[in-house]
Amino acid sequence: MKRVLSGLQPSGQLHLGNYAGAIKQFVQLQDTHEMYVFVASYHALTSSRDPAQLRANIRQVVVDYLAFGLDPDKTHIYLQQDVPAVTELCWLLSCVCPKHLMDKATSYKDKVAKGLPASVGLYTYPILQAADILSVDPDLVPVGEDQRQHIEITRDLAAKFNHYFGTEASPVFKLPDAMIQKESGVVPGIDGQKMSKSYGNALDPFMDEKPLRKRIMKIVTDSKGVDDVKDPAGCTVYQIFAGLAGGDDPRTAELAERYRKPGMGYGHAKQALFELILDEFGEARTRRAELLADTGYIDRVLRDGAAAANEAVSAVVRRAREAAGL
Ligand code: ADP
Ligand code: TRP
Repeated sequence: MKRVLSGLQPSGQLHLGNYAGAIKQFVQLQDTHEMYVFVASYHALTSSRDPAQLRANIRQVVVDYLAFGLDPDKTHIYLQQDVPAVTELCWLLSCVCPKHLMDKATSYKDKVAKGLPASVGLYTYPILQAADILSVDPDLVPVGEDQRQHIEITRDLAAKFNHYFGTEASPVFKLPDAMIQKESGVVPGIDGQKMSKSYGNALDPFMDEKPLRKRIMKIVTDSKGVDDVKDPAGCTVYQIFAGLAGGDDPRTAELAERYRKPGMGYGHAKQALFELILDEFGEARTRRAELLADTGYIDRVLRDGAAAANEAVSAVVRRAREAAGL
C-alpha cells in the first residue's frame, strides 16, 4: 500500500478552498493508501504571537479534519509538536541544505512582503516541511499548487542527504512525489481573488445557514441581468461551484448550461451554490457539532495518531542519524 503524508497549518478557520484543494483528496485517498495527516503547528508559529489563538486553531483543524471525513481508523492524525524527532530530522537536513536553496524559495519573500516577521524560522520553513515529509517515508504528498516548490526542495534535500550519507543500493530517503490537485484549481473567494484565510474573502462551510447565505449573496459578479447570456468560466460564483463539486460533475455542467441561456440571474446561481454547500457538507456540519461536544474523543485520536507517527518517524530518524555517523 502506498503511503501518503500531508498537513495544514493551523492559522485560522479552514475554508472551502482548503477543503477543495487539500482535504477532499485526503478523504478520498484514505481508503486505498496508508495515511499520515498532521497539523503543522510549528509552521504556524512562524506567524503566530498569540498562544490562546494558536491553541484554539490547532484544535479547530483537528475537529475540521474529522468533520470533513478523515477517519482515525484509516488515517493517523497527529500534531507536529507530538513527534519531536521531526525537529531533530529538520536539523540533520539543515546541515546539508545549501543556503542558496532557501534564498530562492518564493514563499519566504511572499510572506515577508505580506508583513510576516522575517524570522530565521520563516526562512528555513521549507526544511521543516521537508522533515515532516521525509520522516514517514511517504510515496505521495497531496498539496495545492502553491506548495509545489516545497516538495521540490524536499526532493533536493533528500537527494543531497543520500549523496553524502547513503549509497546507491541503500539510499537513506525515498524521494516522494507531489500530488497536485488540478481539477478544483484555485478556488476564488467572494471577491474573486484566491480564497484565503488572510484575505477575509473565505467561505466557511460550517457557518450557520443564515449568515452563510448572506455571505454567498455578497459574491462579486458583473451586472448582467436575468435574461442576458453569461459566461460561466468568467464568473466567481460558478468557479466556486465548480471547485467544490468538481469540473466534470453533472451538477457543474448543468449550472454552466443555465449560464448560457436566458432566464437565470446571478441570484439563482448563488442559491444553487448555497444548496450545494448544504448538500456537500450536511453530514460534516452535524458531525462537527458532535465532535465539539466530545473533547475526550479528540484527545484519544491525537494520542493514537502520535503513537503511530512516533513509531514510523523514530525508525526513519534513527536511520538518518546512523547514516550520518551519529
Ligand atoms: P490559506 O491561503 O487560506 O492560508 P493555506 O496556505 O494554509 O491556505 O493552504 C492549505 C492548503 O489548502 C494547501 O494545500 C493549499 O494549496 C490549499 N488551498 C488553500 N487555498 C486554496 C484555494 N483557494 N483553492 C484551492 N486550494 C487551496
Ligand atoms: N506549508 C504547508 C501549507 O502552508 C503546510 C505543511 C507543512 C505541509 N508541512 C507539510 C504540507 C508537509 C504538506 C506536507 O499549506
